[in-house]
Amino acid sequence: MVSDIQRLLESLGELPEPLARPVLVVVSGLPGTGKSYFSKRLAERLPFFVLESDALRKILFSTPSYSSQESSQLFRVIHLLLRELLKKGIPLILDATNLSERFREHLYGIVDRLNVKLVMVRVEAPPDVVYQRLEHRAGDLENKSDADWSVYRRMMSSVDKIQRNHYVVDTSQDINPVIEKIVREVKRA
Ligand SMILES: Nc1ncnc2c1ncn2[C@@H]1O[C@H](COP(=O)(O)OP(=O)(O)OP(=O)(O)O)[C@@H](O)[C@H]1O
Ligand SMILES: [Mg+2]
Repeated sequence: MVSDIQRLLESLGELPEPLARPVLVVVSGLPGTGKSYFSKRLAERLPFFVLESDALRKILFSTPSYSSQESSQLFRVIHLLLRELLKKGIPLILDATNLSERFREHLYGIVDRLNVKLVMVRVEAPPDVVYQRLEHRAGDLENKSDADWSVYRRMMSSVDKIQRNHYVVDTSQDINPVIEKIVREVKRA
């Protein structure tokens, strides 16, 4: 476990400047809804570091199996990493599907204990748009996700309503209004 965290920390490269009160942005949504796209656009507006679970998974597991055991190991390490970086004041975006409320409760626990500002974002897009995107994404070299339409369909049953305040962004529309609202909220923190 210690060596897993070490490996991930070493993979991160340069981190943004710490803030007095750090912020954690958590995106949540099914595959292909545009979480990674949205996270990158937000990180262009404010110096957030994006922790993309699909990229971190491939650092720890070079040929990922996506088994439940692999995912629990991955997210145990991601939670430790979040704590380490937030304690240092680094503003973060957690780019993962984050679909179940039970899973998100771990994140609520982390931010509440550290007095970190939490910004939750439900990312969505109409299923026909997602279908087209997933059909075309495979050739994109920047893409770190292996999820396809069958994974999307399988994960549909895991979507829980987000119990905390959250933004909703439909990435088939203009995403800038939500980005600007988040920028204003973070600057007020
Ligand atoms: N607003 C948008 N405008 C144009 N293209 C978009 C937009 N949102 C997403 N895309 C494209 O759609 C595809 C799927 O988006 P993305 O990879 O961000 O989804 P994701 O939610 O991160 O999926 P996964 O859970 O599989 O990682 C990508 O090729 C992305 O570039
Ligand atoms: Mg993604």
